[in-house]
Amino acid sequence: MRDFLKALPKAELHLHIEGTLEPELMMTLADRNGVNLPYGSVEAIRAAYDFHDLQSFLDLYYQGMSVLRSARDFEDLAMDYFRRATAEGVVHVEMHVDPQAHLARGVSLATVMEGLGRARRRAERELDLTSAMILAFLRDRPAEEALDLLERAAPYWESLDAVGLDSAELGHPPAKFAEVFQRAKALGLARVAHAGEEGPPDYILEALDVLDVCRIDHGVRCLEDPTLVERLCEEAMVLTVCPLSNVRLKVVERLEDHPLPAMRDAGLTITLNSDDPAYFGGGLLDNYLACRWAFGWSREVFLDLAGNAIDAAFMSEARRAELR
Ligand code: HPA
Ligand code: ZN
Repeated sequence: MRDFLKALPKAELHLHIEGTLEPELMMTLADRNGVNLPYGSVEAIRAAYDFHDLQSFLDLYYQGMSVLRSARDFEDLAMDYFRRATAEGVVHVEMHVDPQAHLARGVSLATVMEGLGRARRRAERELDLTSAMILAFLRDRPAEEALDLLERAAPYWESLDAVGLDSAELGHPPAKFAEVFQRAKALGLARVAHAGEEGPPDYILEALDVLDVCRIDHGVRCLEDPTLVERLCEEAMVLTVCPLSNVRLKVVERLEDHPLPAMRDAGLTITLNSDDPAYFGGGLLDNYLACRWAFGWSREVFLDLAGNAIDAAFMSEARRAELR
């Protein structure tokens, strides 16, 4: 089964590129850039990854990315991840990027976008790995800041596929970002949003109605609202579920308790994703394998899930045909 799941062409639709920063590279970049980390070793970094909710993770996630300073750092970050992903049978990656977190510490948008852009072009050339880019807004920051970011990103609109919404969910409902998502739509950008990870089903509904999203990131709490589930099924709305993330952030106690099987039984369109692989204990293949162990799913189930991701990906029809 491992060989089968590894060879299966997999698309990763829910990934934060800053969440691919492995402790080894974090140490290397800290040395390169003279950044002081509160850890003495790779082991000490890993030992700190003991989260009790989304916020406790986000605190370390934002601290970790402080080592990223130059375009070369961002290129190294993404290339390192792209190589690991390729080795796991990942053929397409859609990455969220969090520019506000970098702007806030004096790293320019050009630095971020040029570094990641170089890595994307190299990955396509050197690894036959295609990618998409999702400009994410931090929902725990003011909506005006998100609008300002979208306008500042004008030189990069062409290289963007979508806008997204991430960071601390509770208390920051999607409707707060109605205006910026409307602007993104007018620019011809697709829209996705994290909703129903820690937040209530109402946030999922709001993301659909107010932000007009084409995918819901996480969405696991939808099962609490049968009417919402019915609608998500009717619209064949894609949910980008992140099993290992949900365990690490205590959305569920154990993977065996995860609502994934119930979500599939309800007829929802599910994809499997890794979210922040450096922090949550594994990449996309590890997430597939963990589901195999927890749920005993057959090859057919994984073919279906991997197919959902290829179908929902922001990629050319030629590439889609090649991967199907
Ligand atoms: N949820 C919300 N925001 C995030 C996450 C996540 O899992 N990872 C990085 N930003
Ligand atoms: Zn996420």
